[in-house]
Amino acid sequence: MDSFLPSPDCDTISKTYNGQIDSHLIQKTNEGYREILPNLPRGKGWMTEHLVQYQGVWLTPNFALKGLMWVQDHFKPRSTDIFLATFPKTGTTWLKALTFATVNRTRYGFADHPLLTTVPHGCLPFLEACPNDLDGFPSPRLLSTHIPYTLLPNSMTVNQSCRFVYICRDPKDVLVSKWLFMNKLRPKELAPISLEEAFELFCQGISHYGPYWDHVLGYWKASLETPEKVLFLKYEELKEEPSVVVKRLGEFLGHPFSLEEVSKGVVEEIVKLCSFENLSNLEVNKSSVLKLSTQIIIDNRHFFRKGKVGDGKSYLTDEMIKRINEITSEKLLGSGLVFGS
Ligand code: A3P
Repeated sequence: MDSFLPSPDCDTISKTYNGQIDSHLIQKTNEGYREILPNLPRGKGWMTEHLVQYQGVWLTPNFALKGLMWVQDHFKPRSTDIFLATFPKTGTTWLKALTFATVNRTRYGFADHPLLTTVPHGCLPFLEACPNDLDGFPSPRLLSTHIPYTLLPNSMTVNQSCRFVYICRDPKDVLVSKWLFMNKLRPKELAPISLEEAFELFCQGISHYGPYWDHVLGYWKASLETPEKVLFLKYEELKEEPSVVVKRLGEFLGHPFSLEEVSKGVVEEIVKLCSFENLSNLEVNKSSVLKLSTQIIIDNRHFFRKGKVGDGKSYLTDEMIKRINEITSEKLLGSGLVFGS
């Protein structure tokens, strides 16, 4: 097994759309894209000027929309594929680190682990950013995606036994984390988004891959229907009992921890390696960048802010908290899923 992948130079997506790889298929996706784009509903963007609504989900008009269309049209899943599915700012970076460390724990020592020198996003590529490159990757492939479950092609959800690990988080913390993150990436020529504006947009569902609640419910329902295929996690539970969750993760991914590993403290080593304190203080995560496309280059340090449960509430007014809690209760009613207050 060889799951460690070098940092994906994901300007592949731009190479893809510039037609250097598989030009016929790219042309087809590009034609479809150009045809639909002008007619899509538009909303205010957080990082880009606009978001567009496609098949019920809000996406950046270039990167995310093209990525989704490409995946729907041409991605070839394998039954051994493992996808980490997340809504942005719910714990993607942490889940990537934990999964990578769990699956590859016999390959790397903790003293010279790839996660000490590579941002977690560089260890585990983003499906929508470089779908073409993935054909050459050895199985089992560890990939991440922000695509809502309901928009994934049947080839990924029905026809194949691909596994998904999903992590969700209290919407108040997601909103605030996203607002702060997106403003950092927002081009200087666009005025920053105020918290009030971000709050309104988030509540209306207008944020990358939103509405948030629909995203969560899609994976929640899939996890109830096919628990062997979809593992549903909460950021808050991971914070509270990381070792318990890592053991569940190992079990689900077909890499259960043996009694010997448990007694030797391997689970705790993984938790420590992937902790906020450890990762956020590494030189690579303080000073290097992640290149998602030729236009999207993100400082690794932006992926690590506070890593706390409940921090969102310290930014929001009582009224905002009340409203978002009401929306959450209403949306999740009858689903069996709950978040804290
Ligand atoms: P905050 O902004 O609330 O601090 P994503 O990885 O999906 O972009 O989510 C980012 C959020 O996860 C940020 O939340 C970030 O600080 C937090 N985070 C990143 N790495 C983490 C880790 N190892 N442990 C816990 N939280 C982490």
